[in-house]
Amino acid sequence: MPQNQILKLLYNGKGEFITSKEIESHTGFSKKQIDDYIQILKEEGYIIDESESGYHLSGTPNILLPYEIKKNLRTKYLGKNIYFYKEVDSTNDVARKLADEGAAEGTIVIAESQRSGKGRRGKKWISPSGGVWMTIILRPDVEPNKAPQLTLVAGVAVAETLDQECGLDIGIKWPNDILIGDKKVSGILTEVKTDGGIVDYALVGIGIDLNMDINIFPPEIRGGATSLKAELDREIKGAELVQRFLQRFEYYYGEFKEGNFRDILKQWRRLSSTIGTYVEVHKKGRTVYGEAVGVNKDGKLILEMDDGSLRKIISGECIHTKKE
Ligand code: BTN
Repeated sequence: MPQNQILKLLYNGKGEFITSKEIESHTGFSKKQIDDYIQILKEEGYIIDESESGYHLSGTPNILLPYEIKKNLRTKYLGKNIYFYKEVDSTNDVARKLADEGAAEGTIVIAESQRSGKGRRGKKWISPSGGVWMTIILRPDVEPNKAPQLTLVAGVAVAETLDQECGLDIGIKWPNDILIGDKKVSGILTEVKTDGGIVDYALVGIGIDLNMDINIFPPEIRGGATSLKAELDREIKGAELVQRFLQRFEYYYGEFKEGNFRDILKQWRRLSSTIGTYVEVHKKGRTVYGEAVGVNKDGKLILEMDDGSLRKIISGECIHTKKE
């Protein structure tokens, strides 16, 4: 994006005015191009003062623009390619198309809002502007049965990032809901394409309710969902939060690829608010009840049933409840 060359100069100017001549000599842009690119930056939400002394950056938008995420990003490959859209149907669907066309591992798709965001188990995911809606394309060299572990890997990275950001009571509800107290603030949807018994790519879709007013949630989920803004009573800088998440996730994903899932699982268990809780798990019209006593190395939930027997649950909708 050519306008980002001007943005870089404005940031480097550290609050000083930069003249058109200086921009011209650094970028080779004509005066007309500079005017056009400044206009584009303003439309993106940057506040740029203009005077006889030149241009001056006095405000940045709280939007997940690629430039803001890449600036100072300390990762090796995660987030080096970012596709940003104002609105899409679902970032997972855009990412699937890019992955099918050969997009590299670590490519990210971010949207300001989604028209038909997808949750797990065919549910809708409400995605107005103010949240983090992003999908990461990964190409791990693993067998398909290992792919569900990626959801737990991402869950640990999201939970740790939010914990560091807000210091509130962050927990993970099996398999992939990030909670503040007992309210959901983030969810993860991993979709996988396999090819000849190996993962071709995995799409890790992450939704975080960040700077949203909770009254936009429909009544049926209002009691069960929250946003960081609602909990903290302040706006969070989204690009910085995404940067911190990407740095953590790249570390844990590296451990996963090295075969160190056990260590990640230990951390998942530490962050889990499900283990030690009496739960009901719904799947295909059936419900099982029991105390969640652990998660095994495949990410399956281990329930101690009322008769004392143990049962492993592969997937389902888990609800924290109380024994009657
Ligand atoms: C869930 O908890 O049910 C999973 C929610 C996942 C939502 C994210 S938002 C970005 C990505 N694109 C989608 O359509 N869904 C995921």
